[in-house]
Amino acid sequence: MNRRSFLQGLAAALAAGSLQLVRAQQGFKPFPPAPTLGTPLQPIGVRAASEAHVVRYISNTLPSRHTGAAFAPIGELDGIITPNGLHFERDHAGVPTIDPKDYRLVLHGLVERPLMFTLDDLMRLPSENQVYFIECAGNGQNGYREPPEPTLTATRSRGLVSGAEWTGVPLRILLEEAGVKPEGRWLLAEGADAAAWVRSIPTEKGLRDVLVAYKQNGEALRPEQGYPVRLVVPGWEGSIQVKWLRRILVAGEPAMSRGETSEYTDVRADGRIDAFTWVMEPQSIITRPSGGQRIEPGFHQIRGLAWSGFGMVARVEVSTDGGASWREARLTGPVLPYALTRFVFDWNWGGEETVLMSRMVDDQGNVQPTRAEFLERWARNNRYHYNAIQAWRVGADGRVQNGDPALAVGAAPPVQAGGCGGEVFDG
Ligand code: CO
Repeated sequence: MNRRSFLQGLAAALAAGSLQLVRAQQGFKPFPPAPTLGTPLQPIGVRAASEAHVVRYISNTLPSRHTGAAFAPIGELDGIITPNGLHFERDHAGVPTIDPKDYRLVLHGLVERPLMFTLDDLMRLPSENQVYFIECAGNGQNGYREPPEPTLTATRSRGLVSGAEWTGVPLRILLEEAGVKPEGRWLLAEGADAAAWVRSIPTEKGLRDVLVAYKQNGEALRPEQGYPVRLVVPGWEGSIQVKWLRRILVAGEPAMSRGETSEYTDVRADGRIDAFTWVMEPQSIITRPSGGQRIEPGFHQIRGLAWSGFGMVARVEVSTDGGASWREARLTGPVLPYALTRFVFDWNWGGEETVLMSRMVDDQGNVQPTRAEFLERWARNNRYHYNAIQAWRVGADGRVQNGDPALAVGAAPPVQAGGCGGEVFDG
């Protein structure tokens, strides 16, 4: 729907009296100014104390939190940029403490000239600023559960994604300076965490659009996001975007590391296993209203996020009647490749029980599947790349819960999900 047809629709709805934006009001009274001086200037700003509840959800139930994931509270955020302290996080061996004065990045292997960079060396080189999402391959993992979980929230459904503006030097520049030999078809990127986390990236992707990033939303990376330097690999799964980057080994073969054998491989419905599934599929989720929230009858602007690792969001459709009909949502704010995209949809809730859903199509024609369509392809014990439509049931009392159709029918015993999205974490 374009802006004009939206405005026409809004005008018609207002004329018909069916869409009342502002509810009936009582007790008109202006809010008073402060009676005394406020708090003084501070070197760094902090959130309002009453917003302290907006925090990440940590899935790890083990006594140690050195591995596991923290979910961004997407049910309570807006826009397409995630505040740095609320960006999702996945660690495999805790967050290392790195002194930037000691930091070195080594680029070696099948190159003409091995190179070593300090942080200052990297920051002197030509830089780019790019808005990209990063998403854990395990995002959506709760969706594999049978029966689906009624109390799912937006945060626990898809909070292993975040959006940020990243600043860094294109990896292409470093590779060209080093001179990659023709047989150097793979880049083995290694982190300086205690796991020495390794993932393999085709050199072709490294030359295309990978960033060696040192800033996030304008400031230095947070330690948990890879301080001082991480890879940002647009559109691809989070675990390949190696944090605390200590070296890149140019090689003829992939590493076949733990992160690409025992984890981050995908089980198909017929039992075959896919390795190297990198691109994050088209996703969308309504974040408001969403699971755990409660609404009152009247006007609501449905809001949500959409993204695709294949490119840009082309279209988001919303259903407010359990999938019986779909209408196009408006994309609001910038629509960028490999970035979170915000959609909105104006809705008047009459107080009847219903189910809300969103589905998206990217500019390459990839369509977000229903849960039934998705589970035809992937095994119930798969853990990654879940991108099926998330449904939210709005009860007659206004409470919003997971609205997956499978909740309405009888169900098999639950499957324990592991990996970075699971409540039960196998480390
Ligand atoms: Co994958």
